[in-house]
Amino acid sequence: MSFQSESIQVICPAKLNLGLKILSKMPEGHHYLTSIFLPINLSDEMHVEFDEYVEPGTNQDQQSFLMPELSFSSSLPEYFQEQIRQGFENPQLNTITKALMIYTEEYRRMTNFLPQLPSKIHIIKKIPSPGGLGGGSSNAGSLIALLLSQLENDIQKKMIQVMRARLLVAGADIPFFLNPQPALVVDKGHVLQYFKLPVIHGIIGIPPFGFSTSTMFKSLKKDLQPEKKMNDAQSHAFAEAAGFLKKLGAQQINNSLTTGSDYQSERQLWYRAWENDSQGTLPINEFVDAAKKVHPAEADRLLGYMSVLEREAGGLVGMTGSGASFFALTGTQLSGVVERLRAKITDVLWFPFTSYNGP
Ligand SMILES: Nc1ncnc2c1ncn2[C@@H]1O[C@H](COP(=O)(O)OP(=O)(O)O)[C@@H](O)[C@H]1O
Ligand SMILES: [Mg+2]
Repeated sequence: MSFQSESIQVICPAKLNLGLKILSKMPEGHHYLTSIFLPINLSDEMHVEFDEYVEPGTNQDQQSFLMPELSFSSSLPEYFQEQIRQGFENPQLNTITKALMIYTEEYRRMTNFLPQLPSKIHIIKKIPSPGGLGGGSSNAGSLIALLLSQLENDIQKKMIQVMRARLLVAGADIPFFLNPQPALVVDKGHVLQYFKLPVIHGIIGIPPFGFSTSTMFKSLKKDLQPEKKMNDAQSHAFAEAAGFLKKLGAQQINNSLTTGSDYQSERQLWYRAWENDSQGTLPINEFVDAAKKVHPAEADRLLGYMSVLEREAGGLVGMTGSGASFFALTGTQLSGVVERLRAKITDVLWFPFTSYNGP
């Protein structure tokens, strides 16, 4: 590990789920799922400070260790700041604390020593939480990636493996943020198949309400028998979905959007990629149906917002994660659309985005 005295800046990107299907739910509460994760350029800025480097096993008290001092600042609307504050103030909810506990435990198991943890972490929060954008998970994953990058080679390899599986306990989307690149995610969230994409453009909308993820999971009523893997038809469908995204990013699809016949026929590729798409109008996220059952009033509002977005921007519209943020993938950036949406629907935060391509 190298000596660190100044603050290190880490970019923590948000993510979108382009479709999401639950394969099965396990008695212990984990879920097998499949989704395409897209990291986007809406991001938090994390500043990490270390005290003077201490050689493992020399000075450190092996019985206890100090968690870093955590703080955040934000100019998001008060609704989001309050939710984020609750996460920061409660170590049981705080994604960073949970991830650091796991990291410390595993490092200690492997080396018999305590790892060097940061002394201070300050985050400039720009990703609204909650909302299905994975802001808290990105903070945790990006921080652990930084710590892993500073380890000696042999320990590093083993720790990366171990952390990928163990971080699931702190959040199903945290392993993705160890290396945020477009990925097909299967299993409990830690099997990632990366694929290359040209830059994808779009618009996201973040409403001032969330859905209860655990209640929605319960309403899905999946059988408890694990169907852990995608079947061949699903794998093929995902390859088609990835193919659609590549074409969209490469602007090989007519971007006159909802009226473009090209786009319409091309996006059938996407819809075919998700089983049981009876409506054929949205990239399928099973949580949309769950939200209709569990939070009918909010789900109604959400669907209203989504159809306005589809009318104004066209493209492929869907909800991310367990909601309630939603997006349109538009191929190119459309001028004036975000401004129109902001004027029309003022209680939703609207942002243009592009896919994230590394720091
Ligand atoms: N570092 C963090 N940043 C934001 N929220 C956090 C953090 N740690 C814990 N939380 C809590 O986790 C909840 C979900 O946050 P987040 O993972 O960003 O959104 P989502 O799971 O909807 O994608 C927040 O409402 C907040 O209470
Ligand atoms: Mg989360």
